[in-house]
Amino acid sequence: MSSLSSVDPQIAELVRAEERRQADTVKLIASENYVSKAVLEATGTVLTNKYSEGYASKRYYEGQQVIDQIETLAIERAKALFGVNHANVQPYSGSPANLAIYMAFLNPGDTVMGMGLPFGGHLTHGWSVSATGKWFTPVRYGVRKDTGRVDMDEVREIALRERPKLIFCGGTAIPRTIDFPAFAEIAREVGAVLAADIAHIAGLVAGGAHPSPVGHADVISTTTHKTLRGPRGAMLMATSDEHATALNKAVFPGLQGGPHNHTTAAIAVALKEAATDEFRAYARQVVVNAQALAEELSSRGFDLVSGGTDNHLILFDLTPKGIGGKPAAQALDRAGLETNYNTVPFDPRKPFDPSGIRIGTAGVTSRGMGVTEMRQIGAWIDQVVTALAKGEDEAEHVIGRVHAEVLELTSQFPAPGL
Ligand SMILES: Cc1ncc(COP(=O)(O)O)c(C=O)c1O
Repeated sequence: MSSLSSVDPQIAELVRAEERRQADTVKLIASENYVSKAVLEATGTVLTNKYSEGYASKRYYEGQQVIDQIETLAIERAKALFGVNHANVQPYSGSPANLAIYMAFLNPGDTVMGMGLPFGGHLTHGWSVSATGKWFTPVRYGVRKDTGRVDMDEVREIALRERPKLIFCGGTAIPRTIDFPAFAEIAREVGAVLAADIAHIAGLVAGGAHPSPVGHADVISTTTHKTLRGPRGAMLMATSDEHATALNKAVFPGLQGGPHNHTTAAIAVALKEAATDEFRAYARQVVVNAQALAEELSSRGFDLVSGGTDNHLILFDLTPKGIGGKPAAQALDRAGLETNYNTVPFDPRKPFDPSGIRIGTAGVTSRGMGVTEMRQIGAWIDQVVTALAKGEDEAEHVIGRVHAEVLELTSQFPAPGL
């Protein structure tokens, strides 16, 4: 970073500080990961200088000899990795990608059905504060109180009653396998377009550690920066020409201008990495690690939503521990364990001060940690939470001790790209 250091030492120092923070912290945020050095390098290239509105061989600016090849490579890799006929790699991020699905298939006011935010759905699946909830008519499904899982009979009932034009499956805090065939059957029955939002689990799908929505969902949306371990970006995929054409038009010119070519190149690199045996082993280990961490927490009396996990994500309710999710997440952060506070299904508390915490194992697995480390992390979470429930003085002492142990662990598992 020699140029950055001389031009803007303030920003250079802050980037270094963030790099140190990432190196020294156990990243348990379920939506984050560490990209490889190759992906990082691709994001920092001269491709950022180029405007490329349109699609390969049909652009509105000259000078696309190289960019067309890069975008085509990214598309071909996405198609091969996920087994789809069409891919669009231009959406700026997951939210604009989802908005493009509305633009492609709905008119303002039409009905969209998605999982409610408090149950694990994403804002863009029709939640009230999102444009998707304001400009369309949202109907929601949730999970059963007794199982913490989606009840497909209830989904069918709501769909038959409300007749949505678009159904979203997938979400942002779902610890269990998404039943794509069952959603597809319901969508077919009511004549809705089925969109599978695999933002969280794309890496697991690519690595064979979660069933694929291909062959079930009409369109697939994903971010590229979570379990897929690419740059911040998104993709839309489809099997039929008709759906693909509608999605392409919605992305450009419907919603976006020029694609971020440096991101496209980094997505291509991440897709190449995700097509390796090494990545498949990584995806499997992410799940093994999440299940080991879930077991550890469960054995220590934590109340896990749905009782465990099938993927990379664990959601737990801290009510039985006598504290809220927010103070617990803040205390864990001071101990070097980075999580986020989260609502749990049927949460009586407010979203900014909810009852739960969401964690995931994509980042720690990228650092090479395994089951032994997961058990240790589970023990640390328990120690900090239990101490916090007893009071701040007790907590400070435990947080200090755990933080020292976290630094010892992170020094043994260097993060990729740092
Ligand atoms: C399921 C799901 N869809 C969409 C998004 C939106 O992605 P972005 O934050 O890149 O807009 C997220 C982000 O967390 C997500 O979890």
